[in-house]
Amino acid sequence: MTSPTAAGHDLAGRHILLGITGSIAAYKAAMLCRLWKTAGAEVQVVMTPLAKQFITPLTMATLSKRPILVEFFDPENGAWNSHVSLGEWADCYVIAPATANTLAKMATGVADNLLLTTYLSARCPVVVAPAMDLDMYAHEATQQNLRTLAARGVRIVEPGEGELASGLSGKGRMAEPQQIAEYVGRLLGETDEKKKTLAGKRMIVTAGATIEAIDPVRFISNHSSGKMGYAIAGELAARGAEVTLVSGRTALPTPPGVERVDVLSAAEMYEATVKAFDRADGAVMCAAVADYTPESASETKLKKGDGELFIRLRRTQDIAAELGARKGGRLLVGFALETNDEKAHAQSKLRRKNFDFIVLNSLRDAGAGFRGDTNKVTLIDHAGSEELPLMSKREVAERIVDRIEGLLTR
Ligand code: PMT
Repeated sequence: MTSPTAAGHDLAGRHILLGITGSIAAYKAAMLCRLWKTAGAEVQVVMTPLAKQFITPLTMATLSKRPILVEFFDPENGAWNSHVSLGEWADCYVIAPATANTLAKMATGVADNLLLTTYLSARCPVVVAPAMDLDMYAHEATQQNLRTLAARGVRIVEPGEGELASGLSGKGRMAEPQQIAEYVGRLLGETDEKKKTLAGKRMIVTAGATIEAIDPVRFISNHSSGKMGYAIAGELAARGAEVTLVSGRTALPTPPGVERVDVLSAAEMYEATVKAFDRADGAVMCAAVADYTPESASETKLKKGDGELFIRLRRTQDIAAELGARKGGRLLVGFALETNDEKAHAQSKLRRKNFDFIVLNSLRDAGAGFRGDTNKVTLIDHAGSEELPLMSKREVAERIVDRIEGLLTR
């Protein structure tokens, strides 16, 4: 078995809290614990009362070299197991396996066992590895709970597909211990001070919606909140890049270390972005830019009449296509927001606009696209595609910037 250390994650001195709930997959928690111990981490196990039916506290105590915690206090001597100090002690809280029941309780704030009160007190990153039957996993209630948790920043290691304890086959098997250990190792590495891997690089990010005036009162726009683009700008800056964020109207604060240029219309965004591109190493086109604008905006408020009103629209300039035409050796990342034939449309934009890669999100996926704190994207380049699970927009930004870093520093 390969240890996380061998996979590049030295966990010496790190504190991992391992929460185990009542699932057949609890046996995998033993291997997970062993992987972390081998990599030098301190592991404290918290179990739900039902989890003891699936794997014994003796096994987990022996592997973790610490007594297991289940109850709020020890019935023998009354010693209190403080969920607050457990939450403070941990560098990362990993609940694996996480049943549908525990996920539902986490999503709604139920606090009827030590594992859950510790979740509510945890200040560290929280990771869940769901394990359940395929229909339970696919049920809208479970999916809604996962979206709620992801939106609150809980990280989800998606289950795999295969044979399940019920005898059925499908998606619901807890991810393999090695996979979870690698995920947590990477996460703990990232939560340390970010390495300034993009120092000296200049990047532009467009974000948010443009606003096309009809008259001084009305406009044409879309639902973009700017969250996805702001997360990317923040992540690029955290890794040391000099970032110019060309932003449509939004209520979001400027991410630390980012220079922000506010614009309203597609024409203003075009001017600001093309100008900044002259001295940039690359650009990420995340804004939802109007493709059409009123041919002329009325200087006074349009008065209503009895009949219909027709507004003539003309095409705006395509900012991404313009940068694609003049990019030379620079990096250009695009987005595609689709509602149908998603991949084909995204691939066509990848080629037409000369992107290095494009980030596809579809409004058909729950939790993806506009306004929310999560997204579900597929990264497509000229060689192939990588479909990512539902994640917080911050995590999606990390994955996109990982790719950008790979391309800019090769
Ligand atoms: O802001 P949020 O609420 O977090 O939502 C995020 C998002 C859904 C807006 C984001 O993830 C996203 O998909 N952004 C691109 C939306 C879009 O307009 O896609 P498109 O398929 O219409 O455009 C394709 C690409 O060309 C995009 O990179 C776009 O920025 C760019 N474009 C489009 C038109 C235009 N005139 N100029 C452009 O640069």
